[in-house]
Amino acid sequence: MKKISIIGAGRVGETTAMIIAQQDLCREIALLDVREGAAAGAALDIMQAAAYFGFDTQVNGGSDSALIAGSDLVIITAGSPRKPGMSRSDVLAINRGVIDDIVDQVLEFTPDALLLIVTNPVDVLTWHAWKRTGWDKRRVLGQAGVLDAARMAHFIARETGNSVKDIQTMVIGGHGDTMVPLLRLSNVHGVSAAALLDPAAAARIIEKTRNGGSEVLTLKKTGSAYNAPAAAVATMVDAICHDRKRVLSCVSVLEGEYRQSDITAGVPVVLGRHGVEQVIELPLNETELADFQVSIDSIRADLELA
Ligand code: 2OP
Repeated sequence: MKKISIIGAGRVGETTAMIIAQQDLCREIALLDVREGAAAGAALDIMQAAAYFGFDTQVNGGSDSALIAGSDLVIITAGSPRKPGMSRSDVLAINRGVIDDIVDQVLEFTPDALLLIVTNPVDVLTWHAWKRTGWDKRRVLGQAGVLDAARMAHFIARETGNSVKDIQTMVIGGHGDTMVPLLRLSNVHGVSAAALLDPAAAARIIEKTRNGGSEVLTLKKTGSAYNAPAAAVATMVDAICHDRKRVLSCVSVLEGEYRQSDITAGVPVVLGRHGVEQVIELPLNETELADFQVSIDSIRADLELA
């Protein structure tokens, strides 16, 4: 991949740029922010780490939308973050406007790119972004489940004492309180997490995963999580850049899969250089399907708000 643009040089955007640069996933990163100097300063700071991390990626920052021209992938992290006590939906109205403006810039300057939405509420904003582009649904996706799955893996590792490297997790649905951590389809060295954990531990993991972002925000008070979110975005970028065909839970447009249409939600997909190359339909049981439906209903409620 030649060029990746990241819109929004807040903590998530800047940290994502740093990780992607370190991994030499592309030749150039354009970091854009409306705050004069914020992206240029962040880009300079990252470039000054290149000598020690040994990367050749050129990171350029600025406020001029033309900087994103010729991107293969555009990542949107810009928007108003939530404050303690706020849900992701509380920032919907303001972030809808932000996303609309950015999508218009993408359409003008880099109409052949893939679009990865990170801004919250990500499920709803991915839908609006896709609608506004009019693109093939494979080219517009959102980040949520990769982060939620990482949080779930961390909590399972804490309960079982096993290495997080041997834990595979899957979280589907919306990126909010109704997300569906699939304990039965998650595993520790191949054994279903549901079989390994006693009911109290299982309930704790589900609760902690659903509350993962809020817990960090409540503790920090002044800002949301950004290390794990950036790691999650970088994981998706790596899958796209290397055309890995990884199966990761991404916010994707559904057209009949999981009995849903006209909506975006987190589901496992095959992620490669064309974006969402296939939606994977997991063999959910009736309880899991019912939980997924609750989550879908909450995304639909947000879709009606904006
Ligand atoms: C999180 O879950 C902010 O949505 C982001 O941490």
